[in-house]
Formats: sequence, C-alpha cells, structure tokens
Amino acid sequence: MLHSILLTTTLAATASAACSRAFLTKATDAYVAAQSSGSPSGVTSFISASINYTENEKQANIQSGILSQPLKIDHNRSIHDTTACSTFTELIAASNPHPYVIGTRMLFSNSSKITTMESIVTQNGDWAFNATGYLYYDALESWAPIPESKRDSRAVIQAAGDAYFNRFANANITVPFGTPCARLEGGAYTGTNNMTGNTCSLGLPDSTVVTDRRYVLDETLGVVDMFLGFPGLDRSQGNASMPDSHMFRVEGGMIRYIHTAGCGMNGTGLPTRRAAGRPLLRKTPFVV
Ligand SMILES: *[C@@H]1O[C@H](CO)[C@@H](O)[C@H](O)[C@H]1NC(C)=O
Ligand SMILES: *[C@@H]1O[C@H](CO)[C@@H](O)[C@H](O)[C@H]1NC(C)=O
Ligand SMILES: *[C@@H]1O[C@H](CO)[C@@H](O)[C@H](O)[C@H]1NC(C)=O
Ligand SMILES: *[C@@H]1O[C@H](CO)[C@@H](O)[C@H](O)[C@H]1NC(C)=O
Ligand SMILES: *[C@@H]1O[C@H](CO)[C@@H](O)[C@H](O)[C@H]1NC(C)=O
Ligand SMILES: *[C@@H]1O[C@H](CO)[C@@H](O)[C@H](O)[C@H]1NC(C)=O
Ligand SMILES: *[C@@H]1O[C@H](CO)[C@@H](O)[C@H](O)[C@H]1NC(C)=O
Ligand SMILES: *[C@@H]1O[C@H](CO)[C@@H](O)[C@H](O)[C@H]1NC(C)=O
Repeated sequence: MLHSILLTTTLAATASAACSRAFLTKATDAYVAAQSSGSPSGVTSFISASINYTENEKQANIQSGILSQPLKIDHNRSIHDTTACSTFTELIAASNPHPYVIGTRMLFSNSSKITTMESIVTQNGDWAFNATGYLYYDALESWAPIPESKRDSRAVIQAAGDAYFNRFANANITVPFGTPCARLEGGAYTGTNNMTGNTCSLGLPDSTVVTDRRYVLDETLGVVDMFLGFPGLDRSQGNASMPDSHMFRVEGGMIRYIHTAGCGMNGTGLPTRRAAGRPLLRKTPFVV
C-alpha cells in the first residue's frame, strides 16, 4: 500500500514535471521561434528519436518541411494541456511573401520529448483562406486567461466543442453557443453579420460526420482545440475527410469564439446552396 502510494506520487511528480505549464510554454516558444527563423534545429532538443511528424496528415521530414522556411509571423497563440502533455499553436503569417495560417499540435512523452507533431498548413486556395482577414479579426477578440474562479472544467470545455461537431451530424443537438459568438474560418468572419449576436450557429450541416477528433485542452484559457477529419471540405475530393483544426474558446460553458484552419477547396470556391449532392457545410454568410 505504502509502496503503491510512493510509486504513484513519484510518477505523478514525473508526469507533472514533464507537463508543467512552464515546460510546455518553453516548448511552444521554441517552436514559434524555430518557425520564425526557419530552423528546425530550434526544436531538436525536444524531439524524440521516433517522432511522428506530419504536415496536413502526410508524413513529412521536419528538416525540409515548413519549419525550414523562415516565416514572418504576425501573430502566435499557444494553448498548453498539462493533463494530456500536449500543446496547440496558431500561427498567422499574413505579411509573409507567401501567406500562411498554420495550426500545430505537439504531444510529449513523460520524458519531455515530442512524440507526435502535426501541422495543418493552410495557404491560398484552402478553405476561405485569407491570412490578412485572419489577422484582422483575431485582433478584435480577447483570449485572455479566464479568472481562476470562473474557469470551466476540462469536461465542460470539451463538451462544448464536441456538441458543435455532434450537431454537424444531428440537427437536434443543442450547442452551447454564447451571445455573442463568432467563427473565424480561413479569414472569413461570421461576426461581421452581427458583432453582438451569436453568428456561430449560421450555416451548420446536419449530416456530416467528422472523424478522428484529437484534443488539446487548456482550462486556464478556456480553450479546446480539435484536429479532425472534415468530410467534403475539399470539393475536388468528394466526401473524403480533410485535415482540419477547430479551436474553441469557451466562457462559462458557452462558446465565444471558433477559429478554424482546414485544408481544401482546391480553389473551387465557397460552397453554394446548389453544391450538388452533399450537405452544405456553410450557408450564410458566405452565400448570397
Ligand atoms: C502519425 O500521425 C498521423 C497524423 O495524425 C496519423 O495518421 C498516423 O497514424 C500516425 N502514425 C503513427 C505511427 O503513430
Ligand atoms: C509570439 O507572441 C508573443 C505575444 O503573444 C510575442 O511576444 C512573441 O514575440 C511572438 N513570437 C514571434 C516569433 O513572433
Ligand atoms: C506518463 O506517466 C503516467 C504514469 O505512468 C501515465 O499514466 C501516462 O500515460 C504517461 N503519459 C505519457 C504521455 O506517456
Ligand atoms: C481579406 O481580409 C481583409 C481584411 O478583412 C479584406 O480587406 C480583404 O478584402 C480580404 N481579401 C479577400 C481576397 O477576400
Ligand atoms: C430529430 O427530432 C425529430 C423530432 O423529434 C425526429 O423526428 C428526428 O428523427 C430527430 N433526428 C435525429 C437525427 O435524431
Ligand atoms: C444582434 O444580436 C443581438 C443579440 O442577440 C440582438 O439583440 C440584435 O438585435 C442583433 N442585431 C441585428 C441587426 O440583428
Ligand atoms: C485540385 O484538384 C484537382 C482535381 O482533383 C487535382 O488534380 C489537383 O492536384 C488539385 N490541386 C491541389 C492544389 O490540390
Ligand atoms: C457525399 O455524401 C452524401 C451523404 O452525406 C451523399 O449524398 C453524396 O452522394 C456524397 N457525395 C460524393 C461525391 O460522394
């Protein structure tokens, strides 16, 4: 009994040392700096020998991938999951000669090494892409830490994000949208319809099953990010699930902001009401 208590305490101490907020913040700072200077070596000390590194869900070489390109980063935001030992970082490079919006999820082992690093790298031609718009609307929002007495539990924050996607497959599900609530996708902002209203509920599908949800959760910021497979996002790929990230800011159990970065559309334009043969992913405000 004593032995097992001691063992548990030791492991807990190890885990919390590996996944302290300070450690995870050091890692995301190193990642942002590495992307800014285009030097993958900036994260080398964090990388496990057997790292699974992907870009848009395809195996990639970290030495020659996006991290090897110096990017002028106009905005970065990271969330830190001290329970699951993981992080998510949103990067907006709008004034870079080749604009990008990038979402990166990193998972750490107990020995402080990155075992999984996956980036969604979006650019011109991807879903509603407009890095200038992303930067502009993001700057209107507040993602400040939630005062300790008002923080939601992990379960409540995750449930809000899950309800959103469960609703995509079942119109009867009620999503805890706050008022106001706004969604920023690629660079298009539902909030332009009504900055004080709930515009997150506009244009939701009801028969789209998103697949493979992977969560990063930060109670301090009230944020859950989900990587997932989004069917039909690329109109040239039929109903195939495309790499996508949705980040939800939750306040008092209600969704306040949603940021998305998703691959696809392949320059085929935003969906219209007449997009043949499949559910509309977004209707208003993108469709006139
Ligand atoms: C590596 O990551 C990709 C993307 O998340 C995933 O599809 C794949 O299964 C992972 N591979 C391993 C060996 O974990
Ligand atoms: C990332 O954002 C922080 C502020 O949130 C800023 O201090 C830092 O300089 C940014 N890093 C880069 C490389 O732009
Ligand atoms: C860290 O160690 C704990 C205790 O053994 C274990 O439950 C947890 O899954 C480990 N986490 C990782 C990311 O390996
Ligand atoms: C991108 O967003 C900016 C800021 O909202 C806007 O001025 C610009 O017209 C948009 N560009 C395109 C191509 O939609
Ligand atoms: C939604 O509710 C309606 C009315 O109760 C019901 O007819 C329908 O089957 C429900 N749909 C689903 C997907 O549960
Ligand atoms: C905007 O939303 C607020 C809050 O729901 C509502 O009171 C107001 O009437 C809306 N304005 C317009 C122009 O729809
Ligand atoms: C766009 O779709 C076409 C037809 O499926 C394909 O041949 C092409 O490679 C795609 N382009 C990009 C940038 O994905
Ligand atoms: C996509 O799935 C819908 C059902 O959700 C189906 O009606 C449609 O035919 C499918 N389209 C393609 C191109 O597979």
